[in-house]
Amino acid sequence: MPRALITPQRLVDHVRRLGEEHPPLEVGRVDRTVHDARAVRARFGPTIDYMARVELEVERNVLELLVLLPDVDETNRMFYQDVWGPQEVQHGLILDQLQQDLGLTPAEPELSEVSARVRILGALAHLAPVQEVVRLLYYLTGAATERSAVIAYNAMSSGLVEMGEHAIAKTVIAPIKQQEPGHFAFYQMSATAMLQQEVLAPWQLHLARFLRSRSFGLVGANNRAQRADYGGVIVDTGLGDALEDYARDVGRVEARLLWAHRQGAEVPGYVLRALRDSVDLHRERQAAGAS
Ligand SMILES: [Fe+2]
Ligand SMILES: [Fe+2]
Repeated sequence: MPRALITPQRLVDHVRRLGEEHPPLEVGRVDRTVHDARAVRARFGPTIDYMARVELEVERNVLELLVLLPDVDETNRMFYQDVWGPQEVQHGLILDQLQQDLGLTPAEPELSEVSARVRILGALAHLAPVQEVVRLLYYLTGAATERSAVIAYNAMSSGLVEMGEHAIAKTVIAPIKQQEPGHFAFYQMSATAMLQQEVLAPWQLHLARFLRSRSFGLVGANNRAQRADYGGVIVDTGLGDALEDYARDVGRVEARLLWAHRQGAEVPGYVLRALRDSVDLHRERQAAGAS
């Protein structure tokens, strides 16, 4: 592999650096000036609500993580407990405050219900050979999720600047957006390290591919209504016409690690299908609402 070797020490250093350089953001430091609340609400209301919910659901994500990786090591524990968890919760609180400032209802995160999909994977994860497969899937999910967040925040940020809403673009979206790439890098490096060290036997990689292609889900989209909501986020952030680029971006890490042996597999088909499905559901719902 052409990439530099990712040693356990490099991962620990990365997590420590994130903790030192990016303390959790403070809700009180946000400049809450909004010039045209109605316009922001119309353009980004559902997107802010979606992102607030997903960020706040980090609490449930930690429960899921403990189900998935019962034997989590110190580096991973330090990452989710000391860095990622506290940072994401603040992202959620800040976005939730913003949407309430805009006159919208608070987010309704699902904090305790671990999904059936996670419980099944968790049961399998107790078998040692499967545990490592699940760990790889966890990193790939994390990488795709963090990348999706950056894409959404980038689009929101330029949209808000365009609308002249500089205060919230600069003090809400920009600082949140700055913390996501470090999370992405952790998952990306962790997954890459597993492949570099050949932790998985060929049959385990087959299993990882099979499970990933069957279980891929867009972040925060755990039922039909939420999938339609995600489609709304895609459309409202102006990404509906470039789904293939979007899928390529979100699926880049797994395309490289799982599917590189297949010609033309640079966009995992299941990622593109999930995006298309969510946009279709959103449009269907809109059409039903309009009729
Ligand atoms: Fe976040
Ligand atoms: Fe993040």
